[in-house]
Parts: sequence; structure tokens; C-alpha cells
Amino acid sequence: MEKIVIEGKTRLKGTVEISGAKNAAVAILPATILVNGISTIENVPNISDIETYCEILKTLGVKIKKLAEHTLEIDTRNIESVEAPLDLTSKFRASYYLTGALLGRCKHAIVGMPGGCKLGARPMDQHIKAFEALGATTDTEQGKIEVKAKRLIGNSIYLDIVSVGATINAMLVSVLAEGITTIENAAKEPHIVDLANFLNKMGANIVGAGTDRIRVQGVKELKKNETYSVVPDQIEAGTFMLAAVATRGDITIKNCITKHLESVTAKIIEMGANVEDIEGEAIRVTCNKRPNKVNIKTLPYPGFPTDLQPQMGVAMSIAEGTSIINESIWDSRFQYTEELNRMGAKITSQGKVAFFEGVEKLVGAPVYATDLRAGAALVIAGITAEGTTQIYNVEHIDRGYEHIEEKFIKLGAKIKRVKE
Ligand code: EPZ
Repeated sequence: MEKIVIEGKTRLKGTVEISGAKNAAVAILPATILVNGISTIENVPNISDIETYCEILKTLGVKIKKLAEHTLEIDTRNIESVEAPLDLTSKFRASYYLTGALLGRCKHAIVGMPGGCKLGARPMDQHIKAFEALGATTDTEQGKIEVKAKRLIGNSIYLDIVSVGATINAMLVSVLAEGITTIENAAKEPHIVDLANFLNKMGANIVGAGTDRIRVQGVKELKKNETYSVVPDQIEAGTFMLAAVATRGDITIKNCITKHLESVTAKIIEMGANVEDIEGEAIRVTCNKRPNKVNIKTLPYPGFPTDLQPQMGVAMSIAEGTSIINESIWDSRFQYTEELNRMGAKITSQGKVAFFEGVEKLVGAPVYATDLRAGAALVIAGITAEGTTQIYNVEHIDRGYEHIEEKFIKLGAKIKRVKE
């Protein structure tokens, strides 16, 4: 077992480079199945969710060569199995993209139910609606979902709820289908656009990604031997922006797309931070004072991302006055507040609303990462706090943050990983 130990209290200063986006990479890797050839994917983050994805793809017959730390060559010519085992798929959420990708390519998929962060109910009804709209039958029994179709024929899909996963699965299943598929009320996150860019580079015909109406004209096959580079991680960049606010620091965040960070930028300016947009590709956040209170409601993109809600919660815990978070995406994303309260925060939550009565300082304590973003929030809290913080369950953090200690050490944090 490993834990992260942090000696606070540090004002973070310096430059950090953002890695490729986890939530784009975990969609692009299974999408290579549709290529039926070799694809080279660059800027792939070095995180455990990617390792797990590679393991699953290998069980299907996919050959993967690591050409460099962030570059994978993926050969999907020989798919030997359409069955992805539950022991691997249950390790994370994005394994559900195998269903759309295998159905699109092989007209058949048996995929163990996904796992991932425990954020409340995570149904798949909208994914199934998309598969069935194109002519597939689905069966969800014994911890797995089986989908099959004789033919996949384009159709109009109206998503009842804005869902990242269902939008991506609808795109995956329609790329090689016959005719035109339209996805209405689609999610607009940067990773949706990145997947569409990847698929279009491979010869797909997708328009409208990034709007709420995506139109996919099915093609017979995709191009082989293409190279694609994953978009920078919006959530990792936002995590460092909020770390600058919470630690009253001065951080320049390089290799990000500042347009993706507008909702966070607006809120931290309201909190009293200075934000400098450097040519759309880097952002400098400085904060010289105790942050002001602020209220947020998490929303699908371009709203404030739920995946930055816990990190924002840390900045709010030490802000002047009482801040309110209204979590509109997940039923249960305030588990981290109990951990912050152990560090001296004063947070009360009721259902999907939490009240953060700002305190002057946090104090180090042993805490547990309840999920990926909660873990990142606790790292920021530990750096902000006086004394020593020990964070347990760090495997959650490793699922989505590359070299997290190294990146924070470069900014001046006193943070180390200890084996127990
Ligand atoms: C993606 O999850 C992300 N995961 C999550 O990030 C992120 O929190 C979430 O989108 C929202 O932005 C990946 O990209 C791998 P949804 P996803 O389908 O696709 C409901 C992280 O920390 N819903 O957009 O599973 C659902 O219950 C992770 O990186 C249905 O009702 O989220 C939720 O309330 C955590 N039926 C809402 O939609 C469905 O069929 C949005 O979920 C599907 C979803």
C-alpha cells in the first residue's frame, strides 16, 4: 500500500506542463478498434487507466507497442475476441466505450460492466438507447452487457440527458454504420471534439462535435497508418489553476487550451485571483490574498465541470465567507468534504448542495481519497494546510494524474510517496 505524505504549508510557484487528456485518451484508444489497422497515438497520459485500457485491448487481440513515454502504436487488424472481461472492465468507467467500438466494427460485443469513481447512480440507459436506435439488440445480465446487430443503420438519437459517455458511444457505433446518424442533445466536452477529430483524421465523416447536434455519415472503412495527438487535459489544467488559488501561489500552466478553462477562469477571478491568458496555450494564475467566497453550480460543458468541483471545494474552504456548491451532475460527489472537515474545514452538505464556511487555515491530518478528483483535492488541501497530511487510497489519484508528486514538487511542494 502507498500513501502520499505532504508537509504544508507552501505557496506554489513555477511552471507546470499539462499531460494529454485522460477522458479523451480513454475514448480514442477503444476507437482505434474501428480503424482495423495501425494507428499511432501521441500525447497519451502515463496513468493507470491507460495501462488498464491497454491490458483490456490486448485480451481482444490488439497489439500495442509503446514507442515513447506518451506514444502508442496500436494495431487492431486482428480482433480475436469481442468479449472484455469483468475483472478488467470493472476497474474504471471508460471500459464502456468498448461496447460501441466492438459493436461498430464486429457487430457484436460482450463487455463486463464498468466500474470507476463512486459518484452515485451511473446508469447506461442512454448508451443502450443509442445502440438500439441503430438496430442492435442488448442484453444486460450477469454483470455484462451483450450487444449485437446484423446490420447497423443510421438513425436519429435524442439523448434524454446530456451524457458524455452516451454521446461517445453513439459516435463510435455510427462511424461505420450505413447512412446518417444524428445525435441530438449531445454533450459538448473537449474530449467529444477530440474523439471526433481523431475519427475524422482516420476518414470518418462527423460534423457538429462541440455543439449539441452531431451528424455522422457512415463510411465503409477508416484509414490506416495515421498519427493523432491527444488534446491537453482540461481537468488537470484546472486542478493546477485551483491549486494556485488555494495556496495563494503563482503558477504558469503550459500546454493547455485556455478556451476550455473559461468557466474556471471566470470563477477564480471572482475569488480575487489574477489570470493571464498566454496566447491561448498557457495560463498564469496568481493569487496574493485569501480568496473571496463564490458560488458554483456544476454543469455540462461549457459550464463549470463537476470534475473540478472537489478542487474548487478546497479553495472555498479557506475563502472569506460562505460559498455554496450545487452539484447538478452526480448524486454523491461530496464525500471528500468529510475528509476536508478532518483538516479543519467547516463544510455541511445536504444532498446535492454543500455550504463551505471559510476558515483561516486547514491543518494536516490523515485523510482518504474517496475517488480520483477527491484525491487531487486532498493533495491541494495538504499543500495548503499547516503540518503533515497523509493521503491514503492514492491508487485513485494515479488513475488520472500523471507524475502528480513530481509536478507539485517542481512548484515547491513538499510531497512524497511512501510505501507501507
Ligand atoms: C464522464 O463520465 C467522465 N468520465 C466523468 O469524469 C465526468 O464526471 C462526467 O463525464 C461528467 O462530465 C469519462 O469521461 C471517462 P455522463 P460519464 O454520462 O460519461 C447520467 C473523472 O473524474 N446518465 O456524462 O459516465 C449520469 O448518471 C470522471 O474523470 C444517465 O442517466 O458521465 C449523470 O448524472 C468522473 N444515463 C449524467 O448523466 C446514461 O445512460 C452525466 O453522466 C448515462 C448517464
